[in-house]
This record gives sequence, structure tokens and C-alpha cells, in this order.
Amino acid sequence: MKPAFGICANPVPKNTRIAILAVSVLSLSVGLGMTPNNSAGKVDPRDQNWQVAIDPHKVIGYQSCEKCHAPEVQTWKRTPHHETFQTLHRKPEAQQIASKLGISNFKSESNCIQCHYTMDQVDNRLEAIAGISCESCHGAAQDWVAIHNDYGGPNVTRSQETPEHRSQRFITSINKGMRNPVNVYLVAQSCYRCHTVPDEKLVNVGGHNAGSLDFELVSWSQGTIRHNFVRTDGKANAEETPARLRSMFIAGMIADLEFSMRATSTATEKATFGITSAQRTARSLERLKSAQAKLSHPILDETIKIASSVALKLNNREQLEQAANQIHELGVRFGATVRGDELSAIDPFIPAKNKWK
Ligand code: HEC
Ligand code: HEC
Ligand code: HEC
Ligand code: HEC
Repeated sequence: MKPAFGICANPVPKNTRIAILAVSVLSLSVGLGMTPNNSAGKVDPRDQNWQVAIDPHKVIGYQSCEKCHAPEVQTWKRTPHHETFQTLHRKPEAQQIASKLGISNFKSESNCIQCHYTMDQVDNRLEAIAGISCESCHGAAQDWVAIHNDYGGPNVTRSQETPEHRSQRFITSINKGMRNPVNVYLVAQSCYRCHTVPDEKLVNVGGHNAGSLDFELVSWSQGTIRHNFVRTDGKANAEETPARLRSMFIAGMIADLEFSMRATSTATEKATFGITSAQRTARSLERLKSAQAKLSHPILDETIKIASSVALKLNNREQLEQAANQIHELGVRFGATVRGDELSAIDPFIPAKNKWK
């Protein structure tokens, strides 16, 4: 039997109050040694436009990955991320949303493109070239694609690469904009950029859902989405180790908190978007506290302190954004330093295989 704490995909509690009492935000920065001293700790500042998934001018398209990552592409083609390219514009729900917002073409002028498509520059304009594709999650690849697989020169093979070169390669790829899964937070936050739907008008006027409220990283990434072929040299789609699942589980919780807080920060009116986003933020914080009760992890401790000291209320953009930025740094630091073997206390709460989408 599953222990009864709020980590499983419960609906947002109805009684969560929007305005949670604020403690001064000034106290937040105390004790935050922000600079990560470990590999893979930095995020490209150009990648911090939270509304836009990736820079279309740097997109190279999934076909460019295919010659080396054919099994990944095959797997992806069976997911809703790929299918949405063919199906979204035909759905009556999509047409309803669009007509409420006065949108006539989903694939060009609308803001739907941020989350439903991969955009590329073709001649002088932007064009939708796919649904949600490799670069939507791993970052636009122009600047990193030639680096991420370079073991140290044309004649150096994977087994000959030095450990120093390997960790430098990871750092360089991340500095060039790659959301490299070597840092679990980089891919976790990637999902939440879209799955929290931080767009008030889209939700309140368009009637779009206010994000995937039951999104949880392990169960949502380990089913149809999983494509772990590199580590098996393309022969099998490997299952994650228990240690990695723990890291993902916690990274997902931190990212849920960060991005639901970002969504809340943009709320200006007391309607579905603001209420749902604030409730989701409060719920994420409760879950993180439950996890922390088992783990006593220093980064979670800081994260909880920051989140607890801001008011989840309307028109509180600056404070909420600042807190979300700090949580982001902590999440990246968590990803860079986490050791899944130290998180086994959380095992009973990790969604079992029959919950994987
Ligand atoms: C020329 C071959 C080649 C191309 C093209 C290529 N990759 Fe890779 N990729 C590799 C190799 C080889 C590895 C394994 C690197 C290692 O051993 O760490 C890899 C690893 C990865 C990883 C795992 C993280 C890492 O750094 O090891 C990701 C994610 C990835 N590639 C994404 C992509 C995406 C997305 C594209 C297209 C935009 C792409 N790759 C294009 C060869 C390629
Ligand atoms: C900020 C990201 C974001 C934006 C912008 C966005 N969507 Fe979505 N949309 C999502 C996500 C995430 C889902 C999946 C939610 C779920 O089911 O968990 C979704 C689901 C949908 C669905 C339901 C799909 C289905 O299979 O039933 C429709 C319809 C839809 N979106 C239409 C639109 C339209 C039209 C626009 C533009 C006006 C738009 N969306 C803009 C993120 C976004
Ligand atoms: C660029 C935006 C974007 C990113 C990034 C993204 N998603 Fe999605 N995802 C969507 C949208 C939009 C849909 C709904 C597609 C539809 O049905 O039309 C969706 C659907 C899904 C579904 C299917 C949901 C269902 O109910 O069957 C899963 C599972 C999923 N996403 C997991 C993930 C995971 C895990 C990540 C990160 C590793 C991620 N997504 C990153 C936009 C995104
Ligand atoms: C929905 C988001 C999403 C999309 C789309 C996506 N990936 Fe990934 N990818 C991830 C996540 C999350 C991981 C880390 C998974 C893990 O650790 O279990 C990952 C891991 C990888 C790895 C490393 C696998 C290994 O064995 O270690 C490679 C290579 C990769 N992706 C390439 C690609 C390519 C190529 C595409 C396009 C066909 C793609 N990805 C599309 C989210 C995504």
C-alpha cells in the first residue's frame, strides 16, 4: 500500500488559499551560495525567456539528429509530441480556443507555436517544421550539436575519451544551450515550461487547460517518451536505474514548484488561471515538504524556505519571479550534485511502472 502523503497525482486541494501570508522577501538571498561549483551547473542566460520554448533561429530540425539517433526518432514518432503536428489544428477544441482568441492560423501567427510546434527559420520567416521535437526538450541545437558528441578529436572513440574531456564536453554543451540530461534538472524544467501553461489569456479567455495538473516527471517520462538508446548503443531502450528515478522524481518536484510559481507570478485576475496556478504552487510546496521530511536534503531545505516566504497572490510578479529564479538556480545545483543512491528514503513514493504513461 502507498503511504498517504501528497506526492501522488491528487487533484489540487480545494481549500488552498490564494493569499498565503508573506514573510519579507529580503531574507531570501541570505545563505544562498548561488554559484554552482560543480560541472553542468550553469544555464545559458539566452535560454531564460520562460515564455518561449526555444530560439527558432537556432533550430536545426529532428532530421539532423536522425543519422546518429535513428531509434530515438522512431520512438518519438509514436508519441503525442510528434502527433500533435498532424492533429491539433483539426481538433474542435483547438478551433474553439482559436476562435475565442481571434487566431486564424495555429502554425504561424499564434502563440500556440511556443508549445505545440517546433519553429524554424525558412527563408525570412518562421515556419512550423514539426510538433514538439528533440530540440523542444534538449534545446535548439545549432551551437551545441557538433560539440556534444566530440570525444576529443576525429580519431578518439568513446572508450578512449578522458574523464576530464567528458565532463568538459558536458559543460560546454550546456553553456552552448543544450538541456543535457546529464543534469537532470535541465530536462525536468524543460517539460514544465510547457506543461504549466503560463499564459493567463490563453486560459481565461481561450479556455485552454491551465497546464497538466497531474504532471509528474517519472510517470510522464518513463513510458512512451523514454528513449534511452545511447547507453545501450542503439540495441534496446534501457530502463532507468532506481537511483536516477529518485533524482528525476525530486527534480520534477522542484521544477513543478518553480514553474507553477512562474505561472502564478503572471496572474493578474482572480479567475481560473490565477487560482489554479496558485493552488498548484501551494500543492508542490506541500509535496516537497513531505519529501524533505524523509530526505533532509540541504538544497530542498533552501528551496522550501524560499517558496514559503513569498505571497501566492495576484499582481505579485516581481517577488514571485525572483523566488522562482532562485529556485531555478537551486534546481540546477541539485541536478549537478545529486546522488540518487542517497535518496532511497523516497522509494515508496516513486510511481510504479503501471503508472507510467
Ligand atoms: C554525428 C552524430 C550525432 C548527431 C548528428 C547528433 N548526435 Fe546526439 N549524440 C551522439 C553521440 C555519439 C552521443 C553519445 C555521447 C556520449 O557518449 O556521451 C550523443 C548523445 C546525445 C544526448 C545525450 C547527452 C550526451 O551529451 O551524451 C542527447 C540528449 C543528444 N545526443 C541529442 C541530440 C539531438 C537532439 C540531436 C539533433 C539536434 C543530436 N543529438 C545529433 C551523436 C550525435
Ligand atoms: C504554454 C504552453 C502552451 C501553449 C502556449 C498552448 N498550449 Fe495547448 N497544450 C499545452 C499542453 C502542455 C497540453 C497538454 C495538456 C495535458 O493534456 O496534459 C495542451 C493541450 C492542448 C489541447 C488538448 C489536446 C488534446 O489532445 O486533447 C488543445 C486543443 C490545445 N492545447 C490547443 C492549443 C491552442 C489552440 C493554442 C494556441 C491558441 C495552445 N494550445 C497553446 C501547452 C500549450
Ligand atoms: C514545447 C512544449 C512541451 C515540452 C517541452 C514538453 N511537452 Fe509534453 N506535451 C506538450 C503538449 C502540447 C502535449 C499535448 C499534445 C497533444 O495532445 O496535442 C504534450 C503531451 C505530453 C504527454 C502525453 C500526455 C497524455 O495524457 O497522454 C506526455 C506523457 C508528455 N507530454 C510528457 C512530457 C515530458 C516528460 C516532457 C519533458 C521531458 C515534456 N512532455 C515536454 C508540450 C510539451
Ligand atoms: C519530451 C521531451 C523530449 C523529447 C521530445 C526528446 N527527448 Fe531526449 N531525453 C529527454 C529526457 C527527459 C531524457 C533523459 C531521460 C532519462 O534520463 O531517463 C532524454 C535523453 C536523451 C538521450 C540520452 C539517452 C541515454 O541513453 O542516456 C538522447 C541521446 C536523447 N534524449 C536524444 C533525443 C532525440 C534525438 C530526440 C528527438 C528524436 C529526443 N531526444 C527527443 C526528453 C526528450
